[in-house]
Amino acid sequence: MAMPAPLPVDLSGIRLDPAQGLARQLYQALRERILDGRLAGGARLPASRDLAGLLAISRNTVNRAFDQLYAEGYVEGRVGAGTYVVELSSVVRPPAQVAAGPAPSVALQRLQQHHLAAPLEGAPRAFRVGVPAFDLFPFETWARLSARFWRKPSPARLGYGDPAGDRQLRELIAAYLRNSRGLHCDPAQIVVTCGAQQAISLCAQLLVQPGDRVAVENPGYRAAGHAFAVAGAELQGIAVDGEGLDTAELERVGGCRLAYVTPSHQYPTGVTLSLARRLELLDWAECHDGWIVEDDYDGEYRYSGTPLAPLAALDRQGRVLYVGTFCKIAFPALRLGYLVLPPQLAQAFARRRALDMRHSEIGTQAVMAEFIAAGHFQRHIRRMRGAARSRRDALLAGWPSEIAGCAPLPAVEAGLHLCVRVASLARERELIAAASRVGVELNALSDYWLSDSSTAPDQRAGLVLGFAAVPEAAIGEALRALRGAWGVRD
Ligand SMILES: Cc1ncc(COP(=O)(O)O)c(C=O)c1O
Repeated sequence: MAMPAPLPVDLSGIRLDPAQGLARQLYQALRERILDGRLAGGARLPASRDLAGLLAISRNTVNRAFDQLYAEGYVEGRVGAGTYVVELSSVVRPPAQVAAGPAPSVALQRLQQHHLAAPLEGAPRAFRVGVPAFDLFPFETWARLSARFWRKPSPARLGYGDPAGDRQLRELIAAYLRNSRGLHCDPAQIVVTCGAQQAISLCAQLLVQPGDRVAVENPGYRAAGHAFAVAGAELQGIAVDGEGLDTAELERVGGCRLAYVTPSHQYPTGVTLSLARRLELLDWAECHDGWIVEDDYDGEYRYSGTPLAPLAALDRQGRVLYVGTFCKIAFPALRLGYLVLPPQLAQAFARRRALDMRHSEIGTQAVMAEFIAAGHFQRHIRRMRGAARSRRDALLAGWPSEIAGCAPLPAVEAGLHLCVRVASLARERELIAAASRVGVELNALSDYWLSDSSTAPDQRAGLVLGFAAVPEAAIGEALRALRGAWGVRD
């Protein structure tokens, strides 16, 4: 058999996998060499017969790869004279230089410092934080409503909709807030979002100027702090005591333009903001021309007494932006939440949403509207509250009474998690590491503090436990495993 003629350019290193499309692989290999300069402009590609012989593939395959390169402008044919790489030299760079890229923008640099930890994946385990009892969600009902909507959607709802969100859903949210939370608002004040996190992030984008001071609870919900910091805010941590955010400290530090708070159930300590502090906070906003972002992420979960009215219900000056979410009643991946805005801000927020993403996807909004209108939502809230309460009871009843260096569990009247203090950071790490070895998730309270906190390190130590994520039996098993891991008896 005749040996193939030597090639005019170096094509060594091309390896084709016979199990994959050969023409595509050859096209990609040649394109890569053209783009990184190994095949220079003006170089003549081998004749298809020679290349086919060298790579032991059919000539047809080579021709298909050449045709693709030709169609995309990487090579040109000169009649009767072969195939040549086009002149791209001014934009072709060796790969290392391409990868370096331009200097990162301020926004990119801020994101490098302030970003969320990777989410915990997989089915929830005891004692994952932030996750409701979504094993109880009525998926069949949801599927039926969803099928009904998509079987014959109204054409009026399939174009570009209102950036503030589906009108019917906003009306139902307003009615729900009025009846269940004592918050009276007009649907025109509501903007539907992709969960509470996006609502907080919108507040950061629209209310914060680079360099503004923003007060956040310390310890607090770090993802909210990150959203404000990425918008250019200078975070000012404010202490939390038995009555919630320390409003005297907020006054003392001065200069804040916005305060982010979780009044119903402080995240992560679990304290409820007292009425006196609520009134002081509203007064602060009025006197300092400030804004309050009220994150009511788990306000539906209250186990005794009537819930205190949201701050937004007490606000007479249009200073409070109320954040609500369906993700703690349904499930986090639903990504559906809302903002209730002071009337003067509603239009600006809707405009911003229009620029970001036009509006939230219609299917989820429409199905949630039906879910609420047909009474499923209220029923589900009751079911979820009951489940969270009995899961809380399982944790409180089964928790070991004496754990060295760990305070007793507090009374838990609200929310989906609890927080318990530990004597030192070293002990906190030890307890968490031992739990993790037996497959139990515990969060470190020390992770919820701002990094420049003045609080002594050992006073930041504690454990944060979500109690709603798994049923009572799994909670019991986790507690047994913890006893073994920690060497405690009862
Ligand atoms: C305090 C707090 N706010 C907001 C959120 C985010 O809620 P969503 O899933 O609706 O974005 C969480 C989630 O855990 C939270 O803990």
